[in-house]
Amino acid sequence: MSEAPHGAPIKTPAQLIAAVIAGFAVPIIIIVLLAVYVDNSTRTGAGTDSLSEAEVTARIKPFAQVDIRDANAPRVYKTGEEVYKAVCSACHASGAAGAPKFTNTADWAPRIAQGFDTLLHTALTGKGAMPPRGGTSPDDYSDFEIARAVTYMANNSGASFPQPAEPAAGAAAASGAAAAAATGASDAGAAQAAAAMAAMASVPQAAAPAAGGTQSADASQAGKALYQQVCQACHAAGVLNAPKFGDKDAWAPRLKDPIDTVYNYALHGKGAMPPKGGSNASDADVKAAVDYMVSAVK
Ligand code: HEC
Ligand code: HEC
Repeated sequence: MSEAPHGAPIKTPAQLIAAVIAGFAVPIIIIVLLAVYVDNSTRTGAGTDSLSEAEVTARIKPFAQVDIRDANAPRVYKTGEEVYKAVCSACHASGAAGAPKFTNTADWAPRIAQGFDTLLHTALTGKGAMPPRGGTSPDDYSDFEIARAVTYMANNSGASFPQPAEPAAGAAAASGAAAAAATGASDAGAAQAAAAMAAMASVPQAAAPAAGGTQSADASQAGKALYQQVCQACHAAGVLNAPKFGDKDAWAPRLKDPIDTVYNYALHGKGAMPPKGGSNASDADVKAAVDYMVSAVK
């Protein structure tokens, strides 16, 4: 019989079962595989994006990198180098726009000669093509951080300014007065005194120690001497929001108080203002220093 070429391929019940299974199963498997393939790139854990790469990265990220601003948390200040690299180097690294170049002592020498306070003042308020605070806002970089950047730049360019004193905890906050009133002579007071002493240490001690407890014959001379020796550490540049020397607007609201009240603040402190500016000068000299500061805004 030569029927073989025309015979049905299925000859036994076993072959029939196999053919039926193959007929259903193979297309289904193909469909399932296709579906998986098409959906593959967007698959996540059921109904969430909890397994996405970004989410996982965010979760395992070292939290030292998290940059959250909590107004009540103790502030971590950037170093002068960090501020310089983030902001000031834009111009000062290359000397763009006529900026004194970083580490170029010839550029810096005449500027350094003006003294740290003048440099800081310029950095805060701007000058020519130098934008105030290098173009940043006080929320981004505090006066203290700008001061550190100035110190960093100047000290790498021939100066040897002492590091600016870190503001006392909470002192820079607007609530300084209330906080200090509440805490009295506790830790905050001590921290403020320490900040004051450090601030004063950064003042070139040009004036003779005229104010050291002795009372000078000439009150106005004594006032000026004490101002230069102590008070200007904060009042020259407005450190810690101290009313600036010669700034009528800053002083006007304060001078609405009777002068005895103003004396009292100077003698006993107010907010971030330490008693007697942190010095041990005589009451008379402190009052003379107040008179000296007040006369500059009259
Ligand atoms: C957009 C460019 C630019 C940036 C950013 C910049 N500066 Fe300047 N800076 C200048 C220029 C220009 C001068 C020179 C100004 C002049 O003497 O007229 C200058 C001068 C200075 C001086 C010398 C001032 C003086 O009294 O002679 C200091 C200090 C200073 N900058 C600090 C800083 C600090 C701190 C930062 C960063 C927070 C900064 N600058 C960011 C352009 C810049
Ligand atoms: C450590 C920085 C610092 C030093 C040093 C300092 N002051 Fe002050 N001073 C301040 C601050 C901050 C204020 C603003 C206080 C406030 O209003 O909360 C202030 C405010 C004052 C006021 C105004 C008070 C008012 O509101 O009527 C007088 C006056 C004053 N200081 C005098 C002096 C005299 C005088 C000296 C030197 C013997 C001195 N200060 C040294 C930081 C300082």
